[in-house]
Amino acid sequence: MKLIVGNWKMNQTQAQVRAFFEMLNATTRRHEAWIAPQALHIGLALQLAPAFVRIGAQNCSEHDSGAFTGETSAATLKDIGASFVLVGHSERRQLFAETNTLCAHKIAQALKQGLSVIYCVGETLAERESGQTLLVVKRQLQEGLQNLSTWNPGQLIVAYEPVWAIGTGKVATPAEAQDVHLAIRSELQRLFNTQGQQVKLLYGGSVKPDNVADLMGQQDIDGALVGGASLKAQDFLALCQ
Ligand code: PGA
Repeated sequence: MKLIVGNWKMNQTQAQVRAFFEMLNATTRRHEAWIAPQALHIGLALQLAPAFVRIGAQNCSEHDSGAFTGETSAATLKDIGASFVLVGHSERRQLFAETNTLCAHKIAQALKQGLSVIYCVGETLAERESGQTLLVVKRQLQEGLQNLSTWNPGQLIVAYEPVWAIGTGKVATPAEAQDVHLAIRSELQRLFNTQGQQVKLLYGGSVKPDNVADLMGQQDIDGALVGGASLKAQDFLALCQ
């Protein structure tokens, strides 16, 4: 089954969170769907979400606990009931200078706490135009997943999100996305053998109800990571369907 993950970024009031889940609860259809609200809304989302929706976080600290003002630990996310965390989203990489090595530490923290990880990779427009896409993405995989030896089935997911497609309305063509997904699949297999083969691969970047079906029709695309179109319950449900 395809997995649709909503990344709400720094959006949604409490009232909007309530309205969103009211509509999801009213649907008779059931899909596997995950949502990452702002950290402060995780508790509320957990109270309201129907059973078929898992709730997670958009980021976590690379540290266990202690004097790290403003940070949220993977242990606390687990403790309040979150079930997954995004690591290495391009906005974290670009706006908060997160490196592959920092991502590796965050991933280790999250896996240690039993959270699932959605590790985000993807090239910028300049990197794509200079033919560096696969080089960049493979390096993000090698460095971000360094020192990882084992994880439980389903605990590691990789999201391919070309930076030029995020929030721009410029979606990668299904063939462009498939090419990179195939390369990611074989790199994961090279790094982790059969365990790497089983990692789900999500595509992200301007996924909308009208382009999702063609993307999901590709062999190596197992689901979608969705920003803008995940904010309204109607669009989110349309994506899932
Ligand atoms: P978008 O965002 O769907 O609004 O392009 C995707 C993401 O940032 O994960």
